[in-house]
Amino acid sequence: MSATSRSALVSGVRGGLGQALAARLLDQGVQVVGLSRNRPSAPLGDHPDFDFVSVDLSDLPRLEERLSAVLTGRRFELAILNAGVFGKLAPLADTSIERLRAIMDLNVWANKLLIDLLLRVAEVDQLIAISSAAAVNGSGGWGGYAISKAALNLLMRCFADEHPQTHFVAVAPGIIDTPMLREILAHRPDARYPALARVRAAQQAGQVLSPEAAARRLLDARERLAALPSGSYADIRRLSSR
Ligand SMILES: NC(=O)c1ccc[n+]([C@@H]2O[C@H](COP(=O)([O-])OP(=O)(O)OC[C@H]3O[C@@H](n4cnc5c(N)ncnc54)[C@H](OP(=O)(O)O)[C@@H]3O)[C@@H](O)[C@H]2O)c1
Repeated sequence: MSATSRSALVSGVRGGLGQALAARLLDQGVQVVGLSRNRPSAPLGDHPDFDFVSVDLSDLPRLEERLSAVLTGRRFELAILNAGVFGKLAPLADTSIERLRAIMDLNVWANKLLIDLLLRVAEVDQLIAISSAAAVNGSGGWGGYAISKAALNLLMRCFADEHPQTHFVAVAPGIIDTPMLREILAHRPDARYPALARVRAAQQAGQVLSPEAAARRLLDARERLAALPSGSYADIRRLSSR
């Protein structure tokens, strides 16, 4: 890699939003290090500027050992912490602490460890954590996920104070047609889960974006996100277009 080449890190590149983000960055001439358990299919998977690392980010004790060599000495103009899990649409009373911990492990603690490592062995100019409107809306049935995304927002806030050389932001990316969304929409309507009705209404109103359109919207907003105070949370749908 030449000293002047542009690089980004994206987690959760096997499908959904992360795959589209990685593909768009490559189209923009940015080299991409992509993390997920499974290699994305072609053309992303075999792009010459795509460096794929298979890693289970939920395996917290081995995360540093798995990623240290590949990240050491790198300079990333952008890191997008996108990998996430929804869990199951269910009342909190029916959700075990083990299930909640598993959601927190990937959505929060894996990102904490990844950021610790990145800032120790590499340099990152802009770090975007993919959050959700659920972080502030909360909703019956979305408990574990909503709590984890609220914690993720605060993780960015705290890192921002401790690492002024990197710009941190947590972003709700809008509603996107991905495997995660399809699994949520497979549930029958349930009055206990108001966010499910909101998502279904958005789908019927044609407000659900393709992963490619969502990735374009997010990457087009990079400068506007960087202009926010570091540690902010923003919903991309409410970010001024100027
Ligand atoms: N879709 C939406 O409408 C929506 C709305 C708001 C926020 N978001 C957020 O956007 C992000 C992407 O969501 P998505 O809808 O694209 O989800 P998705 O379709 O379920 O994709 C999740 C990605 O994360 C990777 N991943 C899952 N578990 C992993 C693990 N243990 N270690 C490493 N990688 C792992 C998956 O690849 P492997 O299975 O190969 O590991 C996959 O690439 C998430 O943070 C989600 O919370 C999505």
